[in-house]
Amino acid sequence: MGTTIERATVGIVGAGPAGLMLAHLLARAGIDTVAIDVRTRHEIETTHRAGILEQDSMRLLVDSGVSDRVLRDGHEHKGIELRFDGRNHRIDFHGLTGASTYLYPQTDVFIDLADARERDGGDVRFGVSGTAVTGIDGGAGQTPTVRFTDADGARVELRCDYVVGADGSHGTCRKLVPETLRRRFFREYPFAWFGVMVQAPPSAPELIYNRSERGFALISQRTEDLQRMYFQCSPGEDPDAWSDDRVLTELQARVAGGDGFELKTGPIAEKTVLPFRSFVQEPMRYGYLLLAGDAAHTVPPTGAKGLNLALADVRLLAEILERAVHGGDPAALDEYTDRALDRVWKAQHFSYWMTTMMHSLDPSAEVTPFDERRQVGELRTLVESESGRRFLAEGYTGWPGR
Ligand code: DHB
Repeated sequence: MGTTIERATVGIVGAGPAGLMLAHLLARAGIDTVAIDVRTRHEIETTHRAGILEQDSMRLLVDSGVSDRVLRDGHEHKGIELRFDGRNHRIDFHGLTGASTYLYPQTDVFIDLADARERDGGDVRFGVSGTAVTGIDGGAGQTPTVRFTDADGARVELRCDYVVGADGSHGTCRKLVPETLRRRFFREYPFAWFGVMVQAPPSAPELIYNRSERGFALISQRTEDLQRMYFQCSPGEDPDAWSDDRVLTELQARVAGGDGFELKTGPIAEKTVLPFRSFVQEPMRYGYLLLAGDAAHTVPPTGAKGLNLALADVRLLAEILERAVHGGDPAALDEYTDRALDRVWKAQHFSYWMTTMMHSLDPSAEVTPFDERRQVGELRTLVESESGRRFLAEGYTGWPGR
């Protein structure tokens, strides 16, 4: 079978939330795209990810015309509980900043975006293989090109003006930036999260971020009868070694306190161990290649910044590509790295800070008495200070754009 040559102004590698939101925003600006993904739509839809949208992420979905389902099926949360020393300390986001967050799982964001692309006649190809990107460094006579084999086995050569790498932390696009030009920043953590879906009603009206001497736990939610919960574990933990009973006993032990708080429990529908790391690759643009979302950076999950950061990247990228394509201003691309990294490093700090403030920092050590006391000192300082609470609220609900 031969190769079909096709054209798109922007080729998007990765059709998760970042890739599809970018395709949607560019379509509204009259810029055509083809988005591809190695995964099937079903695979992406059924992989559980985080569940919290910043106010501006919610507004982006609604105001750009993706869908207003988040307003009906999502839940506005006006604050969270920080729980330590066995009692709750509420952080009133709405009172402190005027902003809220929205409980709306990433899988629903993806479904809304994929439906919107279908509704609007967007070109999205799931289940491709053999992706290769060439011609991005701006050399004379080069054309940025994405080659792939589609789900039916047909070979395609997609010639573009720009290629966006939105193919996540395991994708190939970030590797296209030459080693001599890229810088990578890492932070590893000696723990992971054990994530479960519990068939039970919510245990509390808002999310509970819980610090205890047994380690961190997060009591989140999904629906009236399904709840998302996590607890800190070791990175090599085997989910199958944990019976439902053992999981629920551990979660309850972590949230136990003088107030008698009890989790509502039920059968566990799913168990997974989530990796934990911080990562940034700079620059986010190389020639005609632009990286967005996890392809350029990873945050640890505490504080739910990953999806929000990816959406902020592509909102900025859409504005910059529109100026380059329609505004006769290709130099606009030069702004991308610095403007995107401004938020990326704020989110890196926020996620690192929420993580290190609430987790047992070295669970393998017999005792870490200094850090145990220091963390409680930090948490008390934070909740007793309106400025401290506001600092957390501003970060959690999301900073304004640059
Ligand atoms: C969820 C995940 C997070 O990492 C977080 O900080 C809050 C909520 C969630 O999956 O519901």
